[in-house]
Amino acid sequence: MKGKILRLLKENREKFLSGVSISRQLQVSRTAIWKYISVLRDDGYRIKSVAGRGYQLQTVPDLLTPLEIDDGLRTKVLGQQIKYFQEIDSTNRVARKLAQAGAADGLLVIAEKQKAGRGRLGRTWSSPSGGIWFSLILRPPLPPFKVQGLTLLTAVVAVETTALLCGLNVGIKWPNDLIVNGKKLAGILTEVSAEIERLHYVVVGLGLNANVSLSQLPAEVETIATSILAETKRPLRRAEWIQTFLQRFEAAYQEAVVNGFAEILARWRRYSITLGRTIVIHAGGKLITGRAVDINEQGALLVETKNGVETFWAGDVSLSND
Ligand code: BTN
Repeated sequence: MKGKILRLLKENREKFLSGVSISRQLQVSRTAIWKYISVLRDDGYRIKSVAGRGYQLQTVPDLLTPLEIDDGLRTKVLGQQIKYFQEIDSTNRVARKLAQAGAADGLLVIAEKQKAGRGRLGRTWSSPSGGIWFSLILRPPLPPFKVQGLTLLTAVVAVETTALLCGLNVGIKWPNDLIVNGKKLAGILTEVSAEIERLHYVVVGLGLNANVSLSQLPAEVETIATSILAETKRPLRRAEWIQTFLQRFEAAYQEAVVNGFAEILARWRRYSITLGRTIVIHAGGKLITGRAVDINEQGALLVETKNGVETFWAGDVSLSND
């Protein structure tokens, strides 16, 4: 009911809506409406009320509540179920637990803040309020060796969504760091539960420094990270970013499940800032220098080294200046 009242208020923002009219349209008492309005106000919606005229929505809070994400979301599966937390340790941890317990394909776990956000290779991921921190549960009909394609797909869709909504030129550093002007804007952590031949579930976790000011980040990343706010000086409508991301992700995902990841790989190559560059890759406890020449169909990086072309499945890449 709260959502229905909010939708009516949003649809009629240019005028006042009387309690009688809301009550008639939604078949609910005027006292109940008054209570829901007060709950919405507690959630951060500014709603003006004028005796004899009714209610008018003035401002909408920048929140990632199911109410905001669901309103206007055009997907069939992704984000049709949402678990929202104001604060949680890690959305990936929660998503894995829910997936283990049988949660549905497409369930979105989202938090305003994470206390113990997780990054790749066992690192921590700083997640203050204002960012976009979420995990998606997927149960794709794919063999386990194709899962890396989903990480590439996530990076590609995140780049395109950010370009579309913020006008930013975002590059991808292998395997899946989103980079703007040499600094990290977003990262992806994909976790999988599988047997050799059968995938149980995939959790795709995405962290995007959206409306985060750099001073909110720990000192050690302040100089190597950036945010949408720092780059554009304009706050992002985060719910809109998530809706656009989910819609585009669903379309690309359906395409890839049927036709394979060739199209995603082509888009990934277009956005890559790694390919063609001399890099140093830290993998398997060693530092190897070479020229990044391509990625293969499974997303592994092909590097031309003094020993010939070597394939890297995981690792940390730094780009050299030459
Ligand atoms: C990286 O190291 O680049 C990956 C960072 C992934 C962070 C996101 S934030 C939402 C989700 N929950 C987590 O604990 N981690 C991922």
